[in-house]
Amino acid sequence: MNKHRGRLTREGIRIHEDSDFAGMHKAGELAARILDEIADHVFVGQSTGALDKMIEDKVNAAGAKSATIGYKGYRHASCISVNHVVCHGIPGDKLLKDGDILNVDVTVIVDGWFGDTSRMYVAGKLSRKAERLIQITHDSLMKGIEAVKPGKTFGDIGHAIQSFVEAHRMSVVRDFCGHGLGRVFHSPPNVLHYGRPGTGPVLEEGMFFTIEPMVNLGRPETKVLADDWTAVTRDKSLSAQFEHSIGVTANGAEIFTLSPAGRFYPTWTA
Ligand code: MF3
Ligand code: CO
Ligand code: CO
Repeated sequence: MNKHRGRLTREGIRIHEDSDFAGMHKAGELAARILDEIADHVFVGQSTGALDKMIEDKVNAAGAKSATIGYKGYRHASCISVNHVVCHGIPGDKLLKDGDILNVDVTVIVDGWFGDTSRMYVAGKLSRKAERLIQITHDSLMKGIEAVKPGKTFGDIGHAIQSFVEAHRMSVVRDFCGHGLGRVFHSPPNVLHYGRPGTGPVLEEGMFFTIEPMVNLGRPETKVLADDWTAVTRDKSLSAQFEHSIGVTANGAEIFTLSPAGRFYPTWTA
């Protein structure tokens, strides 16, 4: 039998069944718990490779699978994106310095369901401008989630995020987007973090997707480095990102990747 149940919209977006929410909840919770548990291990002098190793060990200890190891040739259990790295930073030997801000992005597979979440951390002392960037990025994700309701559109989500970010004179990255997920890592639709109200596919109960805005202090343009993964801001300005996996319910959204410890934001004061 086909592992996929439910139906597809004409845009190819899967409408899941009520019973599928439990699987997503379990996967999302593991990914979020792993992000909770590494928070105390982010400090000046720590390497991003060591953080990734901890993450991989925790995925294995939970009897789950990493979705990123082996994905399009990627070899790590997380992406760790420091300072002007927008996303897809590759963990390695580089040591965190005082004031570095970093996004850690983890995707796990539990019983075939994908849980995908990322959040920001700081090593040492957080600068005022980085704190502002992180706050606005986090709040923009929450504005996007607040816009989720059957009958609204993906453009409504993008508009909520973009208008909030730009009102604070920061910019939304256009080159990367959120995505449908479920029993697959990336599926339709592309969830844009900018847009016009009332445009794009209509939201329906049972859609599962991520919202994962990347926000820059400077201009929105990015470029990918020679390693074919690391995306950076072209103007070298600081960038931040938060990501939740969510499901559309009858009245709004269920967040699958809520932090069990309440440490999604701000992780450094919890
Ligand atoms: N977790 C990322 C996302 O939010 C995807 C990472 S793919 C990788 O979609 F190969 F770079 F790990
Ligand atoms: Co994602
Ligand atoms: Co992710």
